[in-house]
Formats: sequence, C-alpha cells, structure tokens
Amino acid sequence: MISTRLYALSLVATGVLLTGCEQQVSYTEDVQPILFASCLSCHDQDSEGYLNSGFSLDSYEAVMKGTKFGAVVVPGSSESSSLYLVVAHKTASEIHMPPHTDDALAEGRGVSLTDEQIETLKLWIDQGALNN
Ligand code: HEC
Repeated sequence: MISTRLYALSLVATGVLLTGCEQQVSYTEDVQPILFASCLSCHDQDSEGYLNSGFSLDSYEAVMKGTKFGAVVVPGSSESSSLYLVVAHKTASEIHMPPHTDDALAEGRGVSLTDEQIETLKLWIDQGALNN
C-alpha cells in the first residue's frame, strides 16, 4: 500500500520535472529583445536587410509576415522556419544572420547569437510562435 503511494508520488514528481524543463517562451519578454538587439538595425523599414529581403522585425505582425517571398516562421516547426535556420547556421553561409561580413563585424553587429538565444527562438517557434 505504502509503496504504491510512493510510486504514484514519484510519477507525479517526474511529470512536474519534465514539463518544468521546457518553459513557455514569451514573444514580448524573451524573443523580441533578442531580435531588437541583434537584428533590428538592419531589418527595420529603411535599412539594408529590409530593403534586400522585405523582412522587417519591428513588430510581431512583421515577423510573421516574413520576406517579400513569404513567411520565415512556420508555427510549430523550427526546422521549416528560415528565421531559425539562418541564425542556427543551418543555411548557406551567405545568408547566416546576422551576416558575418567583415564590415558588419567591424561595426560590432555581425556576431552570432549565443546558443541560448538560438534555443529560445527555436522553442518559441516549436511552441507555436505565439504573440504572448
Ligand atoms: C548587418 C545587417 C543585418 C543584420 C544585423 C541582420 N540581417 Fe538579416 N538580412 C540582411 C540582408 C542584407 C538580407 C538579405 C540577404 C539576401 O537575401 O541576400 C537579410 C535577410 C534575412 C532573412 C531572409 C533570408 C532569406 O533569404 O530567406 C532573414 C530571415 C533574416 N535576414 C533574419 C535576420 C535575423 C533573425 C537577424 C538577427 C539575428 C538578422 N537577420 C540580422 C542583413 C542583416
């Protein structure tokens, strides 16, 4: 009897631990600060990234709209989302973001996102790319 209860308790505890690992990512609090700090300088209305690709990052709506060719975020699938693929270095090197060109690096803006930031973007997309 006691051991059955202990077993049930440990199952509950394991469930809490497992779900606790993957926290809900917030667009406003977690994702947007990364995009604003590392991407917005080239992806707002009149800068080079926007002019070349049509991709603005200045609002949630703009992020979901994507480039002039279409969406870069597929809610629920980071592996199909170019927003994730370009920052995680899973594309041709010419479109890694931020671009690691000598000029960009010299101006201090070509530095890759940290692994943790990349993981945050990935999780946000996999959790449905919510406007939360
Ligand atoms: C130094 C300027 C610069 C910065 C910083 C920058 N980008 Fe870009 N981005 C560009 C340019 C230029 C293009 C157009 C590239 C092309 O199509 O040849 C582009 C294109 C893109 C595209 C479209 C890729 C495609 O062709 O499908 C995405 C998505 C993107 N950027 C995301 C980001 C993200 C996310 C960040 C921040 C982590 C970022 N960019 C930071 C300049 C920049």
